[in-house]
Amino acid sequence: MNKRIVDILKTDPPKEISVSGWVRSFRGNRFISLNDGSCLASLQVVIDSDKLPHELVSNLNNGASILATGRLISSQGSGQSVELQAEEIKIYGKSSQEELQKTILQPKRHSLEKLREQGHLRMRTNLFGAVFRIRHHMAYAINKYFNDNGFFYIHTPIITGTDAEGAGETFRVTTLPVGKNNIDNSKDFFGKPTHLTVSGQLEAELAALALGKVYTFGPTFRAENSNTTRHLAEFWMVEPEIAFADINDDINLGEEFLKYLINYALTNCKEDLQFLNDRANKEESQLPKDKRNELSLLERMNMVTENDFERITYTEAIDILLRSKPNKKKQFKYEVAWGVDLQSEHEKFLVEKHFKKPVVIVDYPESIKAFYMKRNDDGKTVAAMDILFPGIGEIIGGSQREERYDVLEQKCKEFNVPKDAIWWYLETRKFGTVPHAGFGLGFERLMMFVTGMNNIRDVIPFPRTPNNAEF
Ligand code: 4AD
Ligand code: MG
Repeated sequence: MNKRIVDILKTDPPKEISVSGWVRSFRGNRFISLNDGSCLASLQVVIDSDKLPHELVSNLNNGASILATGRLISSQGSGQSVELQAEEIKIYGKSSQEELQKTILQPKRHSLEKLREQGHLRMRTNLFGAVFRIRHHMAYAINKYFNDNGFFYIHTPIITGTDAEGAGETFRVTTLPVGKNNIDNSKDFFGKPTHLTVSGQLEAELAALALGKVYTFGPTFRAENSNTTRHLAEFWMVEPEIAFADINDDINLGEEFLKYLINYALTNCKEDLQFLNDRANKEESQLPKDKRNELSLLERMNMVTENDFERITYTEAIDILLRSKPNKKKQFKYEVAWGVDLQSEHEKFLVEKHFKKPVVIVDYPESIKAFYMKRNDDGKTVAAMDILFPGIGEIIGGSQREERYDVLEQKCKEFNVPKDAIWWYLETRKFGTVPHAGFGLGFERLMMFVTGMNNIRDVIPFPRTPNNAEF
């Protein structure tokens, strides 16, 4: 295998090398901009067209894949430190001249919508190359953080017979013939109704009650028909679960973890982040002033790593919202009242206008949160916590878990959670139950924050959303 461009750019010239990649542009019958995806930068490959077969030169159009061999030298031009003076070019695969016009490989500005429609090619652009390299680094950092801190990676099932969040927004899994009404579940593959998991939490709890500190990191599925810029039907969730821990340990872990991940990106994804930062600044300069971000991408990231997150209770959040200007001026679409779930407009106000930094809200009313959350002594709130980020809203949702068997059993009744579906979950409260807590981080929400991309469809390689499962 040949050297990757990321390494070639760090090589001291002169040196004989071969390099493979895709043509990004070909100018003046002389300069090929060659990219192999290993980094944002392309390598300048200089050819002497007169010394190469005419047929070959005429096929060096955008998107073609080539092997170039020659001498790496210090660059004569500005804009790059080294360039390759190629003596030999081999074309692996041509790029269809007739059809190129229709594709996003054409080097000009394309809308994000158009890039999404060509999801099979969009990773070849600078923008999506940067996004998906960062996505890799974030996934790695997640595993590294947990490994370095004594957590074990647990693989929880994707097909489940329980709906952890109780929200009824699941995708069914079945081998029964399509379109049959009156489905006899006992004849189905698993002998009972099953669906794609919405969360690995319940199984992660079982593991935490044996291994101490664990995490899951896998795909989760929700059939919410909300076509927003922050929801996917298939998304990746990171769910740590810690035994012998309370809600404050949980919040501390969430804050430290997020800061670690953002710092990791700042240190290890410099070139791609700078590119995304500058791109966003340029895009925003076209917008009216009130639509622009007050801070740039890099400033927002530094703001998060340098500040303590604000911690308030749900009750305090409601008070702030009730006293707020937009509430008095009736600018909120949804009602603010104790007992009602916060809407994204409320979260936005708290994070972006009031505190101007990440906010952790704890102790939500019991009725608006999941059955497994620990009932507080006041009898009406639970030890739940959401971490809200600027521009994103809820990035983490978690809680201390109800570890008392009798209370949990009662809550199952109140929330209509059938005991026989989660008998195994209840059993853990009978044998050595302990205070424990955990949370779920939406991986794509993190990716939105770290890349500055505004639509969640642009931070996952192949998004699944209502009416869209292409590629
Ligand atoms: O708040 P959620 O629903 O929490 C749980 O599922 C818990 N079982 C987690 C736990 O305690 N182990 O989801 C967790 C996070 C949200 O804060 C959000 O970041 C993300 O998952 N999320 C989504 N991301 C993309 N598309 C969706 N449809 C999402 N729904 C939730
Ligand atoms: Mg939530």
